[in-house]
Amino acid sequence: MVKVTIAGAAGGIGQTLSLLCKLNPDITELSLYDIANAEGVAVDLSHVNSPARATGHQPRDKSDQDALKNSLIGSDIVIIPAGVPRKPGMTRQDLFKINAGIVRSLVGAVAKYCPEALLLIISNPVNSTVVIAAEELKKNNCFNPRKLFGVTTLDLVRAETFLSYELNYPVEDIRGKITVVGGHSGDTIVPLIHINTEISKIVSSKLSPERLENFIHRVQYGGDEVVQAKSGKGSATLSMAYAGYRFTETILNAITGKENKALEPAYIYLPGVPGGEELSRKLGVEYFAVPIEFDNKGEAKRIIFNNNFISKNYEAQMIEIAKKSLTKSIVQGQLFVNGSK
Ligand code: NAD
Ligand code: LMR
Repeated sequence: MVKVTIAGAAGGIGQTLSLLCKLNPDITELSLYDIANAEGVAVDLSHVNSPARATGHQPRDKSDQDALKNSLIGSDIVIIPAGVPRKPGMTRQDLFKINAGIVRSLVGAVAKYCPEALLLIISNPVNSTVVIAAEELKKNNCFNPRKLFGVTTLDLVRAETFLSYELNYPVEDIRGKITVVGGHSGDTIVPLIHINTEISKIVSSKLSPERLENFIHRVQYGGDEVVQAKSGKGSATLSMAYAGYRFTETILNAITGKENKALEPAYIYLPGVPGGEELSRKLGVEYFAVPIEFDNKGEAKRIIFNNNFISKNYEAQMIEIAKKSLTKSIVQGQLFVNGSK
């Protein structure tokens, strides 16, 4: 019995993510919350002949808290893609003004109505919204760092796809052999493609320095590619829904005892996850995306990261650059909830 709630379920990501979740036989209830059209999306999905029961929840007016409460009670997993997407010329951090408040209030409700749930944050800027979620959960005395994940899977999905193009190598043979660490924006996104000996050899023999640089740039700025191509009509929705589903499925697989193949990263509070405290000290940042192994409750069991993951000088340099940008976003998130001291 697994209840999954999606907050922001009627949006570009939300609708496709809801459909993908509806198709997963391990989900028994799919609860769709949005400030508009959640009920319509739920009725539509409820005609799909898969086991999950789809329910829709949307507030009648601004003072109505019952819809959110009813959507959350009993949830095992809460996924948050609520908020505004970028337009051309904007950075993800430009979304902070609007999305910080949305994420904080939704997480406040999670703390009240389903404090035990696993929480997956998609809303941008992830580098800050996850920090906001953590601080809000702390305020409500229910922060478990092993249950809070910033969804950065899209960066890995892009890295796998683009590397497959560059190497002319089957994408299914790349999955599980590379990862992406750091954060989720521009220079905080650090692809690590020398973890596996076989892939590392092919990369070294086939990728010229120019093509390597091009590959890294596409992974770091893949989001911009989509924002520009959609010319003001939003950012990545379909690839993100796939990525968000892939991460959710990884957790569901852990809960139901199925094998997980990929090195799935997520942006987490490092000191709170086994293996993360030492890495956090070494890096000098508290939040960082790293690959994770999950236990049978879907919680982060340990981080999967060792010294062999960073074998090239350019990778170490990228990590240094990522840390600088991350530190600013982390402080911004902390100040939003706690104010300046
Ligand atoms: P969208 O505008 O299509 O959908 C957002 C939905 O959120 C809308 O249906 C809206 O009604 C809803 N919403 C707004 N405020 C809400 C609230 N208080 N409670 C519940 N629902 C609320 O946007 P989208 O394209 O689906 O993107 C959503 C977010 O995901 C954006 O912030 C975007 O930047 C982010 N995103 C993250 C990643 C990632 O890799 N983590 C990738 C792509 C997009
Ligand atoms: C992405 O990486 O596609 C998302 O974070 C959306 C964006 O704003 O680029």
